[in-house]
Amino acid sequence: MTPTKLPVVILISGAGSNMQRLAELARNGELPIEVKAVISDRAAAPGLAIAANLGIPTTALSPKSFVDRTQFDAALADTIDSYGPQLIVLAGFMRILGPAFIQRFAGRVLNIHPSLLPKYPGLNTHQRALDAGDSEHGVSIHFVTDELDGGPLIAQARVPVLPGDNAATLTARVRHQEHQLYPQAVHWFATSRLQCVRGKALLDGQELTAPVQISTHDVSS
Ligand code: GAR
Repeated sequence: MTPTKLPVVILISGAGSNMQRLAELARNGELPIEVKAVISDRAAAPGLAIAANLGIPTTALSPKSFVDRTQFDAALADTIDSYGPQLIVLAGFMRILGPAFIQRFAGRVLNIHPSLLPKYPGLNTHQRALDAGDSEHGVSIHFVTDELDGGPLIAQARVPVLPGDNAATLTARVRHQEHQLYPQAVHWFATSRLQCVRGKALLDGQELTAPVQISTHDVSS
């Protein structure tokens, strides 16, 4: 019997490298998900073409076509629901989603953020880590709540900040870890090991009081 694949919709705004990684692992049978659609708030997002080349349905929904954020969020939520996902993966989706959207998909939205949260919510995280003289930096995966980059943490990967680093070199080092970490968290969710219950992240039924620190590249464990 073929194991069930979790239906997933991925939201992007840009390059889509995390989306590509998840979609390729799914296609190769290494991640038990089916990417039903990739949706962007920017028609020019390069990741949309990558998704289309992978045979995934794509949609662009411009916020400018809606009178306000609430209308945009509602249209986005309806578009997502038309694909019947059980998980929504934000992969470089650079818009804040309002409370109605969050409530509609409560416990079913994951986000990747390029810092060791709670450090550096928001933008320009790599430059901010450099400016602060941090010796380490990294990436976090969390469930999305209506607090910006503030939902329950699931997992983190750390990288050193090296002498001579600039925002580009640090971005690349973190991005490499993102491509290992996000598949791991999605794998946990797809195999029902990871849940969000009453605003808490649970892994194997245990509340995560601190994010799991991941250094392995194995996404199947
Ligand atoms: C990633 O670094 C991700 O962590 C970040 O955007 C980038 C998207 O790259 N997300 C955020 O900053 C969300 N606040 P990608 O389009 O190549 O996956």
